[in-house]
Amino acid sequence: MIYHPIGVFDSGLGGLSVLSEIRRLLPNEDLLYVADSGHAPYGDKPLSTIEARAIAITEFLLDQGAKAIVVACNTATGAAARVLRSRYPVPIIAMEPAVKPAIERTRSGVVAVLATRQTLASHNFSVLLARLGQGVEILPRPCPGLVEQVEAGDLDGDRTRDLLWGYLEPLLARGADTLVLGCTHYPFLTPLIQELAGPDTLVLDSGTAVARQVRRRLNEAGLLAPPEKTGREHFWTSGKNASTHGLMTRLWGAEVILAPFIEDAIRPAPTSCVGLALEAI
Ligand code: DGL
Repeated sequence: MIYHPIGVFDSGLGGLSVLSEIRRLLPNEDLLYVADSGHAPYGDKPLSTIEARAIAITEFLLDQGAKAIVVACNTATGAAARVLRSRYPVPIIAMEPAVKPAIERTRSGVVAVLATRQTLASHNFSVLLARLGQGVEILPRPCPGLVEQVEAGDLDGDRTRDLLWGYLEPLLARGADTLVLGCTHYPFLTPLIQELAGPDTLVLDSGTAVARQVRRRLNEAGLLAPPEKTGREHFWTSGKNASTHGLMTRLWGAEVILAPFIEDAIRPAPTSCVGLALEAI
């Protein structure tokens, strides 16, 4: 029996925070993950570059037989979700910062959104604010440098603390009681963010909501793996394999099988590897 995997990608390791939620909700699915760490961060790159990366990775994942693509990156969502949806016939599930639940739950009426510059400047984000942002003060806060700290595995060192505190302090001083993590790298910093912001501050991300959306879309399309199947994972990186392997294993919480993601690699014909990605590699 051939089972088609779900393809997931991010500019780097951040999307693992989404992948964990997908694994939790969908234990039967085979999951393919591409970390584009060789090109991270996406946040300050031109939209055309991010779009080209998203297309190249999506095509690779489709070649591996992916039945759906999860853009586990807010920045790539803003830059490329629309074009991916127009080009490929499979379900494309993408990120949306958790502004809606934040607005429902804030007590102070001040919500901060931490994300990359590109995400906060994106059309998607303007639409989200226009749709939801009435009656609540929303403070968008670009956080350059945080993605790099997570990519370096520094989740609570001095440099990361200083950087974060520099971003958080002014937001807290303006009364923000709810922090939306609008970048999939940031949930790996949640313990530190919570420590710095204090226990009364609500810290929200969208990992679980996206995993639910993946389950819903696959269910609607009749594409869910059968309950007797055990889901497996395979990982690729465009970064340095040796250094990524240890960090990925740490963030994923189990030993990962990691292969290099090589541009223009000779790929097997789609039909020959449909659903076989996990056996073939
Ligand atoms: N995880 C990506 C996101 O959600 C990080 C973007 C970047 O590489 O700057 O936006």
